Amino acid sequence: KYPPTIDLDGKLYKTDEWTNVPPQILSLTERQLHQDPNHPIGILRDLIEKNFRGLGYTFYNNFRPTVTTFQNFDVLGFPQDHPGRSKLDTYYLNKEHLLRTHTSAHEHECFQECETPGYFITADVYRRDEIDRTHYPAFHQMEGARLWSKNTKDLEKQLENDIAAIPPTEIIVEDPFRDAPFNVENPKQTYMSDNEVRLISTHLKKTLEYLVNLVFEEAKKSAIKAGSTEEYLNEPLKVRWVEAYFPWTSPSWEIEVWWKGEWLECCGCGLVQQQVLLNSGLPEDRLGWAFGIGLDRIAMLLFGIPDIRLFWSRDERFGKQFLEGQISTFQPFSKYPGVRRDVSYWVNGDNALHTNDLMEIVRAHGGDLIESVVLKDEFEHPKTGKKSQCYSIHYQSMERTLTNAEINKIHSNVEGDLVNTFQVEIR
Ligand code: PHE
Repeated sequence: KYPPTIDLDGKLYKTDEWTNVPPQILSLTERQLHQDPNHPIGILRDLIEKNFRGLGYTFYNNFRPTVTTFQNFDVLGFPQDHPGRSKLDTYYLNKEHLLRTHTSAHEHECFQECETPGYFITADVYRRDEIDRTHYPAFHQMEGARLWSKNTKDLEKQLENDIAAIPPTEIIVEDPFRDAPFNVENPKQTYMSDNEVRLISTHLKKTLEYLVNLVFEEAKKSAIKAGSTEEYLNEPLKVRWVEAYFPWTSPSWEIEVWWKGEWLECCGCGLVQQQVLLNSGLPEDRLGWAFGIGLDRIAMLLFGIPDIRLFWSRDERFGKQFLEGQISTFQPFSKYPGVRRDVSYWVNGDNALHTNDLMEIVRAHGGDLIESVVLKDEFEHPKTGKKSQCYSIHYQSMERTLTNAEINKIHSNVEGDLVNTFQVEIR
């Protein structure tokens, strides 16, 4: 069923009994939507990075999606029998190589090489999953992490300064854990003091509240622009912290955002297990936090995109709607095929025919079936001085596939009306 080798990013992977990644999924790895400045995922990445510039982070955006089981699981302390390792959940190239299931797979190498106190990693990640409006086997995450050294002179003072440097928000936090950042079920690591845990988790929470706030304030603006009048849109954003579990952090949490009447899970995080830092070759004095946030659902809210599959569309009606640095509202287009017909005529010299006149005639006959009208060609005969124009009309329905017969009828009505009203000569 699978070829003997898979060629990906210039490397050959020998397939074996673990191989389960189909060609369609492999082809998605070429897209790198987060690197496209004019794609919603890229625009969202830019928005976040822009707001974190100058705060001590390096941004990594170029990691290729193939990683080893060591990077994705072992180094992070996943137990051997963790369900995430299963072939049911993960795409394997072979026993040792897989498509990363999360950006945490790169924490290890970033801890090794990063020269700033913190870093962000944005990348495409892959999980075998059902496909529906909000699930797709490929999606995007942004990882963040930040470290300190216990050897810092007056570390607590340093942490307090770093916390004070995070831009403040008006966010409302329902936070039963702020004063008790750890407990028996969500324990602190013994190599950290109570105060270190308290300060670092405060830094983590403030950082994520700042991130979530800047993104959801934009989402509120676009909801208002799209006509939503719900009350919560005029109030400060509400979030809450929920205890969580990840093999490579302790204590761990998830931040949830109050959105459209429900709590939206949006980001897992915690204080990095010392073993992960030691595995990355760092000395014993390091301590810090990490988080991972999903970008696709947030981008759907920001841009009013109703279906996650649209992100992967190659249809220019999708692509051309988004521009670097701009949060615009998606205008739906049809999934049914359209029909293109040209109308070409000599203008009657006595009867000026403005583009808008033509648009009106086309709309009068085609109604909602008109997807677009574009001037294709304009020409003036050098001898006679006669002017000709050619418009391309794109007919398309939001609900069904159009028949040739009905388009022919509409199109000939358009031509007839042009002749009657503007005395043009159809070519
Ligand atoms: N990688 C986790 C996920 O995909 C999120 C996470 C990142 C949690 C970093 C803790 C620390 O759900």
